[in-house]
Amino acid sequence: MNTPFIYGVAAEQMYFTDRENETKRLLLNFENGLNTIIISPRRWGKTSLVNRVFELMKDHQQIHIVRMDAFSVRTQEDFYRLFATEIIKQTATRTEELLENAKRFLSSLVPVVTMSADPMNPVSFSLKSVNREYGEDVLTLPERIAKEKGIHLIICIDEFQQIGELSDSVTFQKKLRSVWQHQHAVSYCLYGSKRHLLMNMFGKRSYPFYKFGDMLFLERIPIEYWYEYIQSRFIQAGKHIDAPFVDDIYTYVDGNSSYVQQLSWLVWARTDKEVNAEILSEAKQDLLHQNHALFMEQINSLTSYQLHFIRAIMAGKASEINRKEIIEEFELGSSANIATIKKALQKKELIEIEGKNISFSDPIFIHWLRQNTYLFS
Ligand SMILES: Nc1ncnc2c1ncn2[C@@H]1O[C@H](COP(=O)(O)OP(=O)(O)OP(=O)(O)O)[C@@H](O)[C@H]1O
Ligand SMILES: [Mg+2]
Repeated sequence: MNTPFIYGVAAEQMYFTDRENETKRLLLNFENGLNTIIISPRRWGKTSLVNRVFELMKDHQQIHIVRMDAFSVRTQEDFYRLFATEIIKQTATRTEELLENAKRFLSSLVPVVTMSADPMNPVSFSLKSVNREYGEDVLTLPERIAKEKGIHLIICIDEFQQIGELSDSVTFQKKLRSVWQHQHAVSYCLYGSKRHLLMNMFGKRSYPFYKFGDMLFLERIPIEYWYEYIQSRFIQAGKHIDAPFVDDIYTYVDGNSSYVQQLSWLVWARTDKEVNAEILSEAKQDLLHQNHALFMEQINSLTSYQLHFIRAIMAGKASEINRKEIIEEFELGSSANIATIKKALQKKELIEIEGKNISFSDPIFIHWLRQNTYLFS
């Protein structure tokens, strides 16, 4: 029997729910050659959504989607290498074509093409390193391939915020944009989390990627979809979960797609026939327990000021954090100091800031903090 719930990997097929409007919008953008930027908090379903659209367009004659993940890109050279390798690999239909294209389209980079004799993956292609001077060749690669094949290419780059973290990033972004905006047979879908970084890159007038494309802010999957998704899985196993328990799961994890699946699984696994309050409570404890080591590590890396700040947020003081009384009560130093603390916590991906609203990036973190307040006193 298939596992009823999944988390930690992209959701597909029977594990994929909703995203109907977003799927339509992406399909439309892809068919019309519009660039798209997708932003959402961690684990809400960006990768799953793009993979879904990839599956739907797999057999399209004129449009071909290339996906890559910039997660481990640390330098501009890393990016060029990833970009070139994935485009060559994913646009070739046969091994011979792959080799031929590598030679032809990346002639300036030869002899850095290597073949591997891995029995599981008999022919694989990689580029050792791609010097910056070849950057132009690499960036124009998709347009050259698309034109020759008479197709339109969509290049999807996951974890694109990594580009904003490279050294001399703005100059690099300028270069990417200046080449990409002249391409007619290629469009881009750029997505990732770290909202503040992406908002800087795409939402600020002074940055090269300003107004680069359609901005899609992924919302939570509405609870209506989860009733059907969760309840049917209990029924299939001869179990039952009442709707209010689904509400409880959804609220507890603040609608985070991944945690909805994980907590549902923890409840499902404990249930013989019928979910009750005790089962749900144990499942929540288990979820907190599984995150304990990670959260401890995060807490241990904080300065006293940062801990005080977290205490103030927990006390619901986010909107008045700069008031003199609050600064004194929570020992935050000064207004200037608060700005520094916010930046640091944002960088550590612990908090999200939207205007005056400050929230914890991980919805489980707040529950864990409440249970472990002794760490702050
Ligand atoms: N459409 C969906 N239907 C059901 N579950 C989903 C859906 N999208 C995401 N999930 C759940 O959320 C988890 C994370 O999904 P995914 O990796 O697509 O999110 P992400 O936003 O790309 O995450 P990250 O920020 O880590 O890159 C999945 O493993 C699955 O449990
Ligand atoms: Mg992802």
